[in-house]
Amino acid sequence: MSADRGSESLDRDGMGEAAWDELMRNLEATIPTYDKVNSIVTLGQDKRWRKNVASFIKPNMKVLEIGCGPGTFSENLQGVELTCLDPSEAMLEAARRRVGMARAARGEKDADFVLGVAEELPLADNTFDRVCCLFSFRDFHDKRKGLSEILRVLKPGGRLIICDAGKSNFLQGLAGRIWMGTVVQWVARRVTKDKEHPWKWLAKTYTHFGTISHYRKMMREVGFSDVRGRLYWPFFMAERFLATKPE
Ligand SMILES: C[S@@+](CC[C@H](N)C(=O)[O-])C[C@H]1O[C@@H](n2cnc3c(N)ncnc32)[C@H](O)[C@@H]1O
Repeated sequence: MSADRGSESLDRDGMGEAAWDELMRNLEATIPTYDKVNSIVTLGQDKRWRKNVASFIKPNMKVLEIGCGPGTFSENLQGVELTCLDPSEAMLEAARRRVGMARAARGEKDADFVLGVAEELPLADNTFDRVCCLFSFRDFHDKRKGLSEILRVLKPGGRLIICDAGKSNFLQGLAGRIWMGTVVQWVARRVTKDKEHPWKWLAKTYTHFGTISHYRKMMREVGFSDVRGRLYWPFFMAERFLATKPE
């Protein structure tokens, strides 16, 4: 954790220790209803975004998913050598079951499941062809440190693909905040049948999330080349970054 950031604080570059711990408790509470709520609040677009990220991954590649959560993306990744990393033992347990079953059904070797944070990856340098972060980059407690670690574990020429909630500028961010603060909250309340549902925290991290240009600049400063970032059409609810480790 960053020493110069207050424990409760959240900003576009990261968050303090107490804020991140609270976020993690809330993320774990989403596990039973995670896919259902996501599918409703993204109008079913989340599947399309995941497919788009997967389109950058080719057979036999070594792939790392950071913040794999319950395995929603990783379970459908076929024909690759896969490592799923998450700081939550509960998330990893769910992923182990789900990804493990999907891979066994396809006759593939099981994935590696690693407990850890993006900011201190317990993985060797120059290992992966692709690193993917789907809806986890927003939760990194130190985004610059996380990106530096990703650069370290990618092979030269390897690529980072990030997909997260879309925020291109103030106005579009405001529209996103209204969506997160109303529709998402209403859906989450209905699905979880709980007024104190954990999606409140997801709206909070979106409020503090930076713009696409802010993170494009950060990726270049960290050492990535060929950095690109854009919103997904047609609803602009999500964004995708591509960045390459120089050869
Ligand atoms: C919203 S879930 C995303 C799940 C999944 N990737 C998907 O496709 O929907 C975010 C995940 O990021 C993980 N996470 C939070 N902070 C992290 C960090 N600093 N490093 C790595 N993963 C983190 C959380 O534990 C959680 O499982």
